Amino acid sequence: MAEERSKLTMFFFSHQIILCFFLFSQTSVASSNTSSVGVNWGTMASHQLPPENVVKMLQDNGFTKLKLFEADQNILDALIGSDIEVMIGIPNRFLKEMAQDTAVANSWVEENVTAYSYNGGVNIKYIAVGNEPFLQTYNGTYVEFTLPALINIQRALEEADLKTVKVTVPFNADIYFSPEANPVPSAGDFRPELRDATIE
Ligand SMILES: *[C@@H]1O[C@H](CO)[C@@H](O)[C@H](O)[C@H]1NC(C)=O
Ligand SMILES: *[C@@H]1O[C@H](CO)[C@@H](O)[C@H](O)[C@H]1NC(C)=O
Ligand SMILES: *[C@@H]1O[C@H](CO)[C@@H](O)[C@H](O)[C@H]1NC(C)=O
Repeated sequence: MAEERSKLTMFFFSHQIILCFFLFSQTSVASSNTSSVGVNWGTMASHQLPPENVVKMLQDNGFTKLKLFEADQNILDALIGSDIEVMIGIPNRFLKEMAQDTAVANSWVEENVTAYSYNGGVNIKYIAVGNEPFLQTYNGTYVEFTLPALINIQRALEEADLKTVKVTVPFNADIYFSPEANPVPSAGDFRPELRDATIE
């Protein structure tokens, strides 16, 4: 009996590792009748599965969209030839350099997007500039660099003739602000210090 139990625990444990691997799985609403499911692939798991196995698992389970928090070459290689729509994130630590030097943005696009964007390559649809860079916890560190970095990435994509790849900045809900005097959503706005950078 005790042995049965420990087997069961192990079973759950091994599943938990897989669950952690898919940090947050999310359902995205599709406009048509078809539904599609996406997943965020975080690579900070203790036991990483080989990317090929994960890609196969995603396909077998009907996942059609994937977000990578950074352009991991092994994962991108494993995605070659799959139809999965991919969003590639640019970590916050790159924003400053990318904002200040177009060559940095150009080579990032060259190595991490252009190299995979051929017929039968990887279906890269979006670039996420920063990971919630306006989060209050960061104390404004990335605010001045985010928009210039986005502009430089956009230009690099245009120069590489990758106009179908869209550029976006992932926001956290804490960017949204309701005045204390009138704390209803309709009176809300972006946090005052971010308003200009956001609506630009
Ligand atoms: C929408 O999905 C339902 C259930 O899968 C199916 O019966 C129906 O024919 C679909 N409608 C269209 C317009 O594809
Ligand atoms: C491509 O992306 C990876 C991961 O974010 C990064 O380490 C690498 O420097 C990028 N390549 C270039 C040329 O910037
Ligand atoms: C946030 O920025 C303010 C003003 O620049 C500074 O006084 C404060 O120490 C910073 N806090 C953290 C946690 O970095």
